[in-house]
Amino acid sequence: MADEALKFGLDSGLADEIVAPAGQFVLFGCSGDLARRKIAPALYNLHVEGRLPETFVVVGVGRRAWDDALFRKEMRQAIETHSRRDLDEATWRAFASRWFYQQTILDEPASFQALAARLTRLDEAFGTGGSRAFYLAMAPAYFGPIADALAACGLHRPARESGFSRLIVEKPFGRDLASAQKLNRALWANFDEEQIFRIDHYLGKETVQNLLVFRFANSLFEPHFSAEWVDNVQITAAEPFGMEGRRGAYYEQAGALRDMVQNHMLQLLALIAMERPDCLRCDAVRAAKAKVLRAISPMTPALVSQRTVRGQYREGSDREASPAYRQEWGVGLDSTIETYAACQLFIDNPRWQGVPFYLRTGKRLPTKTTQIQITFKREASSLFHAAGCDMRGENRLILQISPKEDISLRFDVKIPGAAMMLRPVRMDFNYATAFASGSPEGYEHLLLDAMRGDSTLFIHADELEAAWSIVDSIQRGWQQADETSLGFYGPGEWGPADADRIFGDPYKHWNPV
Ligand code: BG6
Repeated sequence: MADEALKFGLDSGLADEIVAPAGQFVLFGCSGDLARRKIAPALYNLHVEGRLPETFVVVGVGRRAWDDALFRKEMRQAIETHSRRDLDEATWRAFASRWFYQQTILDEPASFQALAARLTRLDEAFGTGGSRAFYLAMAPAYFGPIADALAACGLHRPARESGFSRLIVEKPFGRDLASAQKLNRALWANFDEEQIFRIDHYLGKETVQNLLVFRFANSLFEPHFSAEWVDNVQITAAEPFGMEGRRGAYYEQAGALRDMVQNHMLQLLALIAMERPDCLRCDAVRAAKAKVLRAISPMTPALVSQRTVRGQYREGSDREASPAYRQEWGVGLDSTIETYAACQLFIDNPRWQGVPFYLRTGKRLPTKTTQIQITFKREASSLFHAAGCDMRGENRLILQISPKEDISLRFDVKIPGAAMMLRPVRMDFNYATAFASGSPEGYEHLLLDAMRGDSTLFIHADELEAAWSIVDSIQRGWQQADETSLGFYGPGEWGPADADRIFGDPYKHWNPV
């Protein structure tokens, strides 16, 4: 068993020999946005790369009265629009012959029985080994009821002893700790934790997976990831767009904190700050991440007012192209939902004692970037200062996650000339130039891992709960604060005017990105 488990983990990656096992990929919510934009294109690209065997079938599930032909037509269109590769007619035709549609209505048990019967027939026809992965591209309110309905017809267990039955779910996984725990209990009623794959699409990104490699495979860096060397860590996830015409109603229930901080940003923090796992097996990595997240103390409302900033975007000069958040479709005219959130967090363990981690995210910010900046402490002896050098930079490691995939290191050099003058320079590594092939879409890696049963890149219940505890404490502080704690910012600005307040020092600021 131990050897079996060792096959998996971050060491596996997308190596050429990795192919999904026989199985059925059952896509609930197949007519929705996520299925069209991400899932169908990811499956197509996996097929093109030869990672899906002939014994792999896709079954779309939804309320609509579609048939196989219409499902294939719709998914073809989605792939044409959203795939990173152009659709090749012959390749798609061959693959599409293994795509099927089954109308299934949640409150009609007979339709789930019909789904089960169809899956059995497909299993016999295509040799899918009695294995199924149910992907729920739906609102979380449906997760529990669908899991119950699947279990009622025995689909929570594999059809054969050698097969598998898995549930893949998307965020938002709850809207606070209590609802996340309730959701967990609802799923655990029928599925074991090992069968549940909670997606955080950031973990599918190559650059995010590389964080562990960068830290733990390079002896140059790892010893310096600690309070002794690091002055502060800044994590930015910025986006220039707003609600894109369609996301307002969802966002009203979420806000920047739940939408980005609870999941993606705390995962980045966990990967940067976690202790070295004993091995790259799923459980070891996930346990190390959960441990560091649990070491972040939830904040009291007083600390929340000091250590967090929340803001909402105003309208731009062109109201049509750039409406205020409150004018977006699906948003209340007096909404106090934050479209910008920033916080200062501390990790209460010996490695990181006293090192501030700053996180900020927002919509309608100046640019699209996700990056981590680690600033190291200044040279302590003041040797150069004493020699009269008035230019002294900071050593800074910048890990660009997306859309740029770069790592750069900033350090001081002597400016040529008679005087001892210093200037910061950058040393850069770029993924695109170092590796000829582009990175696959995150979903491709995640879907393949889920089919293979490798849960390293999926969120364990413990990580989820630890992250919600932090976010809940901020939410509580915001609820208790008065309305003036919500600042406003114009499109293209880096958040509200007091965005730097969380540094607690007029000389400290967000680094340029
Ligand atoms: C999603 C959020 O999880 O991540 C979106 O719901 C956000 O609001 C998106 O735009 C950002 O993902 P990426 O991969 O574009 O950085």
